[in-house]
Amino acid sequence: MLFLYLLQVSIALDTITSSQFIKDPDTLLSKDGNYSLGFFSPENSTNRYVGIWWKSRSTNVWVANRNKPLNDSNGIVKIFEDGNLVVLNGQKQVIWSSNVSNIASNTTSQFLDFGNLVLMESTTGNILWQSIQHPLDTLLPGTKLSMSKRTGEKIILGSWKSPSDPSVGSFSASFVESRNIIQVFIWNENQPYWRSGPYNGRVLTRIDTMTATYFKGFEGGDDGNGNIIIYYTIPDGLDFLIYNLNSQGNLDETLWDDKKKELQVTWTSRKSDCDVYGICGAFASCSSLSIPICSCLKGFEPRNIQEWNRNNWTGGCVRRTPLQCERVINKTTTT
Ligand SMILES: *[C@@H]1O[C@H](CO)[C@@H](O)[C@H](O)[C@H]1NC(C)=O
Ligand SMILES: *[C@@H]1O[C@H](CO)[C@@H](O)[C@H](O)[C@H]1NC(C)=O
Ligand SMILES: *[C@@H]1O[C@H](CO)[C@@H](O)[C@H](O)[C@H]1NC(C)=O
Ligand SMILES: *[C@@H]1O[C@H](CO)[C@@H](O)[C@H](O)[C@H]1NC(C)=O
Ligand SMILES: *[C@@H]1O[C@H](CO)[C@@H](O)[C@H](O)[C@H]1NC(C)=O
Ligand SMILES: *[C@@H]1O[C@H](CO)[C@@H](O)[C@H](O)[C@H]1NC(C)=O
Ligand SMILES: *[C@@H]1O[C@H](CO)[C@@H](O)[C@H](O)[C@H]1NC(C)=O
Repeated sequence: MLFLYLLQVSIALDTITSSQFIKDPDTLLSKDGNYSLGFFSPENSTNRYVGIWWKSRSTNVWVANRNKPLNDSNGIVKIFEDGNLVVLNGQKQVIWSSNVSNIASNTTSQFLDFGNLVLMESTTGNILWQSIQHPLDTLLPGTKLSMSKRTGEKIILGSWKSPSDPSVGSFSASFVESRNIIQVFIWNENQPYWRSGPYNGRVLTRIDTMTATYFKGFEGGDDGNGNIIIYYTIPDGLDFLIYNLNSQGNLDETLWDDKKKELQVTWTSRKSDCDVYGICGAFASCSSLSIPICSCLKGFEPRNIQEWNRNNWTGGCVRRTPLQCERVINKTTTT
């Protein structure tokens, strides 16, 4: 029995089928050997999640059951009767599924290069579902950021609630297209929180590291059917480059520095509070070196002085004295 089990694990390290499953605390190595798929508990949490990480668990890039944690170590990942890839709890209940409907053929799951977990038809190899196209908080090389200009349907990143809770937090990020200008927005609930500069057909302006030599830029573009599909690939000489929306609402670029042998956050969307969208409101300027950081333009005063003194500057500023023409208009309309 033990021999068979070992044999099975060693022949098909990157494959899951209906009879070959992984259970806590097993892990599966991706084809290239650089990513792992398995069970983990975030720091300060005893919940068990099925996730994908690069080399160490601290570089988690994907979680299956983010909203439905396992409370013990009886979880299993396997191909279910309906052909989907599922996570089962100890009571054999499905707590997560790849959710592909009407699967007609036998299926297999493989863990491919770049941490891409795929569900495919066993005989044809036809891909039915792949994790890289269902990003959660992390953008990986090859994730196709699609956006339909007609329906507005698009891929949205959703932050973790906290570093110890991968369930959906309050921040989200996505591309926004308006009058042919494409930008990335981060939202806090429904409020804009940050925006990038426009996409120039290659990179996002205002993300200065995208003009660095190690970033090759985005490929893809308008597919001719009203969809914009862009993605980046891993540049030569780099092993790992991701964009992650953290639970504080910051979009971080993280890469592996092979010379220093460490992960580095090479860029972050929020270098200071002045990067927060509309933090000072209208007719005000922001300086991260001033206290408070917001100040009204010359000739303007806070619209709401109580809120302003509470460091809530979003109301912005208004003119201290009305413009000559405003006075004239009011005079003529009231007389
Ligand atoms: C896997 O990692 C090694 C060493 O870090 C690297 O040389 C190789 O290119 C990586 N493979 C892929 C497909 O990224
Ligand atoms: C764990 O979860 C299962 C089902 O989701 C539930 O029946 C069980 O009571 C839970 N155990 C604990 C210790 O919370
Ligand atoms: C799968 O579909 C069910 C019902 O449509 C839905 O409740 C569930 O959230 C979906 N799961 C995932 C992982 O998308
Ligand atoms: C799926 O595999 C089983 C066992 O190998 C086989 O009996 C069955 O015919 C297959 N089903 C399809 C739809 O290929
Ligand atoms: C875990 O808990 C310790 C002690 O309360 C705290 O210092 C640390 O920041 C926590 N880590 C996370 C990721 O929440
Ligand atoms: C900030 O002030 C504005 C009015 O200037 C108000 O609408 C908003 O609710 C305030 N926000 C908070 C967080 O208090
Ligand atoms: C002028 O009239 C408009 C509209 O009635 C009003 O909102 C504004 O406060 C007035 N301005 C002054 C200086 O009275």
